[in-house]
Amino acid sequence: CGIIGIVGTNPVAHRLVEALKRLEYRGYDSAGIATLGPDGLDRRRAEGKLVNLERFVGENPLPGTIGIGHTRWATHGVPTVRNAHPHATQRLAVVHNGIIENFRELRAELERDGYRFESDTDSEVVAVHATRAMDRGAAPREAVHTTLRRLEGAFSLAFIFAGEENLLIGARRGSPLAVGEGRGEMFLGSDAIALSPFTDAIRYLEDGDWVVLDRDGATILDAEGRAVERVLTRSVGKPFYVDKGNYRHFMQKEIYEQPEVVGHTLGAYVDMTSGRSRLPGEVALDFGAVRRMALSACGTGYYAALTGRYFFERYARIACDLDVASEFRYRESPLDGVDLALFVSQSGETADTLASLRYAKAAGLKTAAIVNVPESTIAREADAALPTLAGPEIGVASTKAFTCQLTALAALSVRAGVERGRISGAEEAELTRALSEAPRMIAEAFKLESQIEAIAREMTTHRHALFLGRGSSFPLALEGALKLKEISYIHAEGYAAGELKHGPIALIDETMPVIVIAPYDGVFEKTVSNMQEVAARGGRIILVTDEKGAKAAPVAAAATLVLPDMPEILTPIVYAVPLQMLAYHTAVHMGTDVDQPRNLAKSVTVE
Ligand code: G6P
Repeated sequence: CGIIGIVGTNPVAHRLVEALKRLEYRGYDSAGIATLGPDGLDRRRAEGKLVNLERFVGENPLPGTIGIGHTRWATHGVPTVRNAHPHATQRLAVVHNGIIENFRELRAELERDGYRFESDTDSEVVAVHATRAMDRGAAPREAVHTTLRRLEGAFSLAFIFAGEENLLIGARRGSPLAVGEGRGEMFLGSDAIALSPFTDAIRYLEDGDWVVLDRDGATILDAEGRAVERVLTRSVGKPFYVDKGNYRHFMQKEIYEQPEVVGHTLGAYVDMTSGRSRLPGEVALDFGAVRRMALSACGTGYYAALTGRYFFERYARIACDLDVASEFRYRESPLDGVDLALFVSQSGETADTLASLRYAKAAGLKTAAIVNVPESTIAREADAALPTLAGPEIGVASTKAFTCQLTALAALSVRAGVERGRISGAEEAELTRALSEAPRMIAEAFKLESQIEAIAREMTTHRHALFLGRGSSFPLALEGALKLKEISYIHAEGYAAGELKHGPIALIDETMPVIVIAPYDGVFEKTVSNMQEVAARGGRIILVTDEKGAKAAPVAAAATLVLPDMPEILTPIVYAVPLQMLAYHTAVHMGTDVDQPRNLAKSVTVE
């Protein structure tokens, strides 16, 4: 979910909606705003995308120079207007991001005291609890503090109060919240991008902080209520204006940006003139003594990390443990012998990845994170923040961020190999030269688009699909299946090709498309035998390979997508592209909402 708050002198309603547009990547199943006008607290809430709220506010304007807003990704309670934020009582309105873990207990307690609830959300207990404190005589600030002390979980909050035209209160525990300073106006927002149209003077709250704002300034308080100082930063989250250009969807545009952004990212990790690998900018990270690494991430980032394991184990001989972040944080791994914990996140805000980072830090590990948003919480908290230079990614299904993550991981593994004495200067030069071909090879992959479109049209007639890959193509099989299911809603599974015979082969018949990712590499022959097993059972094979592979493949595929021959370190980066295009065109033919698929959010800030 995303939060915004403004205390100012000019009308706020349309500016709240504008800011919410920039936060829509955090969820889009409902949205709402509340302001304090001449007639008191009032709200506008709407189900679905932000445009619905925008239209509603257009038809039913909301006066007031102070207000809060919210865009929601439902956790507790279906996405209806009744469950949309802000939640309000006679006394106050509040927006909430995160989860209140003890809401049932609090709700029962408040109901025993005669308070009634309107929604099924966990958030409403915050509104009602603070209201009870005020009913018992507390001033707003005291009521919030009392409430904060009772809440368990990870969250951020913003409150406004009836009769208080110059008072906005925010709180952060777990979920990010930033304070923006304007001229005669103050702001709260989930990130600097939301605040970027208003100000670039930002203070990030730390965990446990809460803040009392009026038009002229902010007092930041710690959990005990003592005033604290937080550094003022100049945000570089300029008011970027993202538009689709001539593309039909952001996802399509982002697929096509890959040659450029992969090139940029590579430039940060490789000195193209000397062919030497390097660390970007100011980053201090020494792989020399690293023998074991723990990697974790979520979603597409996890598949990038899984590919990273192949790179690091092969080129740097660093053993890698791998977990999805939601498991890492609770697995109670002893982390014995782990020298570095590496996290991968596009947004840098994913709750589980952030919690895993903190877990690793608490265990005394050195941490590094590959992050696309330099000002994000994960980038700020990791010991070493390793950038991807993908630029803002708007499509919920990650494309260019993924290939940039792979690029950074590949180049880092080379750097690590050099530092650990596992790669000679000549090998380093050969690998970095291979990587420098990535943009050109991705552009070659685009040439397959019309062929892919035809395959995609056929794909819409199926309800299921299997993706197979071996070695560093295995994570791609997982990612290819994830892309397809995320945006076309066709059920897809990715499997290590060798695992086929241990179960999924039972699913194979003439109606099952099987996408086989098989560059002509050291495991090509093995993958091909698995392909034979599919062919023998009538499965419809779509083979993604290169020229050598196409010649060598003994079985006839229903379709073969042929990429140029290329060095092995490049294949995950380049082979990702036809899989993205396949998912994209399938979704377009299915008529789904490609950029904002149902039930998903770009950045998931709850666990
Ligand atoms: C969400 C997005 C995915 C993304 C995952 C991890 O589920 O929809 O596309 O891979 O979060 O996000 P992160 O920002 O940490 O990479």
